[in-house]
Amino acid sequence: MYLLNINGKEYEVAHDKRLLDYLRDDLALKAAKDGCSEGACGTCTILADGKKVKACVQNLSRFEGKKIITVEGIAPAEMKIYEHCFALAGAVQCGFCIPGMIIAAKSLLDTNLNPTRDDVKLAIKGNLCRCTGYKKIEDAILMSAEYLREGKSIPSEPDTLHMNERAKRIDAAEKIYGKGLFADDIDVPKMLYAKCVYSAYPRARIDKIDLSKAILHPDCVEILLKDDVPCNKIGHIKQDWDVLLGEGDITRYIGNALAIVASSKKDSLEDVCALVQVSYTELKPITSPYEALRGDAPLIHEDGNIMSRANLVRGNADEAIKNSKYVVTRKYKTSWQEHGFMEPECAVAMPEGEDGLLIYTSSQSIYDVQRECSKMLQIPSEKVHVRASLVGGGFGGKEDMSVQQYAALMAWYTKKPVKVKYSRQESLNYHVKRHPMEMEFTTACDENGILTAMKGVIIADTGAYASLGGPVLHRACTHAAGPYNYQNIDIFGMSVYTNNVVSGAFRGFGVSQSCFATEMNINLLAEMAGIDPWEMRYRNAIRPGQVLPNGQTADANTNMVACLEAVKDIYYSNPYAGIACGFKNSGTGMGKKDIGRVLLSVNQGRIHIRTSASCMGQGIGQMVRTEICHVTGLNPDLFLFEPADTIRTPDAGTSTASRQTVMTGEAARQAGEKLRLELKEGKTLQDIEGMEFSGEFSAKTDPLGAEKENPISHISYSYGTQVIILNEEGRITKAVSSFDVGTPVNISSVEGQIEGGMIMGIGYGVTEEFKCIDGYPQSRFGTIGFMRSTDIPGLEVILCEPVEEDKLPYSLGAKGCGELCMIPTAPACAHAYYRFDGKFRQSLPLDDTYYRKGIK
Ligand code: FES
Ligand code: FES
Repeated sequence: MYLLNINGKEYEVAHDKRLLDYLRDDLALKAAKDGCSEGACGTCTILADGKKVKACVQNLSRFEGKKIITVEGIAPAEMKIYEHCFALAGAVQCGFCIPGMIIAAKSLLDTNLNPTRDDVKLAIKGNLCRCTGYKKIEDAILMSAEYLREGKSIPSEPDTLHMNERAKRIDAAEKIYGKGLFADDIDVPKMLYAKCVYSAYPRARIDKIDLSKAILHPDCVEILLKDDVPCNKIGHIKQDWDVLLGEGDITRYIGNALAIVASSKKDSLEDVCALVQVSYTELKPITSPYEALRGDAPLIHEDGNIMSRANLVRGNADEAIKNSKYVVTRKYKTSWQEHGFMEPECAVAMPEGEDGLLIYTSSQSIYDVQRECSKMLQIPSEKVHVRASLVGGGFGGKEDMSVQQYAALMAWYTKKPVKVKYSRQESLNYHVKRHPMEMEFTTACDENGILTAMKGVIIADTGAYASLGGPVLHRACTHAAGPYNYQNIDIFGMSVYTNNVVSGAFRGFGVSQSCFATEMNINLLAEMAGIDPWEMRYRNAIRPGQVLPNGQTADANTNMVACLEAVKDIYYSNPYAGIACGFKNSGTGMGKKDIGRVLLSVNQGRIHIRTSASCMGQGIGQMVRTEICHVTGLNPDLFLFEPADTIRTPDAGTSTASRQTVMTGEAARQAGEKLRLELKEGKTLQDIEGMEFSGEFSAKTDPLGAEKENPISHISYSYGTQVIILNEEGRITKAVSSFDVGTPVNISSVEGQIEGGMIMGIGYGVTEEFKCIDGYPQSRFGTIGFMRSTDIPGLEVILCEPVEEDKLPYSLGAKGCGELCMIPTAPACAHAYYRFDGKFRQSLPLDDTYYRKGIK
């Protein structure tokens, strides 16, 4: 028997177990999160006798006689201060790390109310945040110290909300208190726990799956095999992804599920899975696209190893290159990148009604989950009701199904609630990654450094399944020539199946890769032409009315030049400053369906915001509320943001392609306009009780290869320049972004996206490495190289809005910024190191730098 004191209450516990499990499962104290179970992320941090402890790696027997405090146990007055400061500073994005951050803050501020920023960095060093870049969390803690030190009272909230202001987000409080529900926070009585048995080999014939021992385990409730799946092929775009593989099949990667096992007890689930015995005939995996393209290569999928092709030709690149004064050809190579969202994938499914299913999940679109699960079960989509839980980061990695289909399948068969959750290592091994690409680019310019042409070949490794590999390849190609004014281009791309980990959507969506190649070539051309790299970019930067390399005419809201001008002094005043430019579409575009929807309903004097647009941390609720408040002048306090729900909220498409701020933002503006007109004649909300106001916006664009002189590939683009500054040791000391993302909806949120994106981009460029050798992922969460608070450089964000009359005529002038923020970062890092040591690096992550010393 163990005696524990938790949040001031005494508990007697008979059996020893992990403290985190006891807090979350037995006491339903859900603020401490399980982000890794490995002691690496800090989301489980609690206080024991005033000291920070990671509750995932210690058993409760070690806490006898100690006073344990979780966020739920912090005094309300103190929590009010954290709530105010974290929300005001814009420190909360997905929120999964935030309760752990608050505990880390409290551990510091309980003994030091005059901390320096370095003290704060040290205090939160053990807590990873993948969204924010830490700066705003540090600001929040410093602000909290000031409030506590000076006894400041919390000011009342403003009663108006407009675009281009700093405002607290609508979802901040529930995340700060840890009360908002992530999927793993959901417990249902008599819930089963399920997990898949995965292939031991990237490529092998499955000879036998023997369940005889597993089904004898007393906790085993059900084991399902391939033959139990009504439709075994699903997939986000191309339906090539096997739900389960069976005897006689050949595995395609290490993440192929062979059986799904349900246990009545969470603790015994692994044991039951271990009793499923699989015999294989191991086969040699195909681990490079070039191997896969050989004529004698075994087919990974029946329709061949080439998953997708893209070809973008405009003007006459060969002729222009031949006639150009300077020409450079280089090969570049980029590697996988792990999203590293703090919340591992989780879904809870349960029967609903007579023959329906309810699924709670962390996903980038509940309608995608509905579509894929109903297809798998071969039941009408309206029988699959999907509700969004909070999403603890996504960055593109939660567009594909991961655990949802397995929770749905097991719940469908057992007619019981089922939770399926990836362990952190399963998440690393099985979910999609950023595509590795090999690129050969030729870029040319005239004697004045004016770009004339580029020609490129891109080979992408899409791994075992298509995922979003087709659109990623397209975007890599359409953005490959950069945000510059030249029109002779010839780009060919291929995305190829291998037996590697699957590649899919990731913030930057192919553009991060091709931007690296183009920007590096531009640095070489600048050198050949005797022009400095800033000037070279300035001469070529796309200006309104000019034609982008992909053929689209740049709109009036194209402020690339201002972005360059904003960093001119910073760049010139630092000897080891690297520079790069980038651009990124807002919206899916390319002639594809691209619809945003919002429904407002007036209910008991409050306005319910209903949209399925998934918030993975970027702030959808606040974006929609701001557009509506701006239009109507209503008090922001009147709004409630409902969780996405296939019954309650209209389909706003996937949160991808930096699209929601424009598509759903414009839909919100339209709905707000209808609400404003209704209230115009002096009516109150009571007068319009029960009324609904809908907004829908659909962007019309042209497909790739459209027979038009100037096709409109995307409704808008954001533009930006980044500068990375190194010190004498080669350490990155400052990262600056000057971005045209239109009118900021919420300045704090935009800055937060950009700051977090820069850190993710630095990770991609210099510190992170996801290794997959011979088809086997090798990386652990704690050693991938995610930057911690003490590693980050100074961050500066400069917003270069177009002037009012030039702004995008939708969504009150706002454009997407969620992806652009990390696109130019890696090439800016590479350029900085080139200036630092003269080594021209052609692969990512960059070798032999301060961060990866000696690696060549
Ligand atoms: S869950 Fe404990 S450190 Fe990650
Ligand atoms: S807000 Fe920190 S991980 Fe998302």
